[in-house]
Amino acid sequence: MREKYKEEFNSIIKPIISNENILEMKNYQQHGNTDCFEHCLNVAYYSFIIAKKFNLDYKSLARAGMLHDFFLYNWRGSSDFMEKGFFNQHAFSHGKTAYKNASKYFDLNDKEKDIIIKHMWPVTLSLPKYKETFIITLTDKFSTLKEMYNYYTNNLAKYIFFRIEYYNVIMFVMGVLSIRL
Ligand SMILES: [Fe+2]
Ligand SMILES: [Fe+2]
Repeated sequence: MREKYKEEFNSIIKPIISNENILEMKNYQQHGNTDCFEHCLNVAYYSFIIAKKFNLDYKSLARAGMLHDFFLYNWRGSSDFMEKGFFNQHAFSHGKTAYKNASKYFDLNDKEKDIIIKHMWPVTLSLPKYKETFIITLTDKFSTLKEMYNYYTNNLAKYIFFRIEYYNVIMFVMGVLSIRL
């Protein structure tokens, strides 16, 4: 995190991340190894930086970024096409759920509401009303790709490492056996 922005970003999100219900997001996996809290932190920070560069409402973006996936359930086990219907699936509904949860604990302005509810656009069809909402539709997808990339590259590295270790053990055992024979 760039030092010059760090303090300001932290002071904006402090009231949100001090809330114990927000910390519960740490219990839910979002993408790869990244939990919901960390994913929201990534999205909030990237959005904040971009908003600063383009002279947009960085405060609303940082706050709404921190809240955009505040749904508090395991979405992997939540797909139930037959019972819920297609447009009530997680991808379409969690923006509204996050807004509903967030508005219980925080006073949100119209922009923050739009950012949270429509962050999945264009998956959800309702068009963003503010430039800041368009920013989060990009930073959310960018963060998702980055988190997935990190997960798969780390796991690939581990897989290759264990294969090499496994090969070394086999070679060692064969070496010992050949000495004894
Ligand atoms: Fe989301
Ligand atoms: Fe997200």
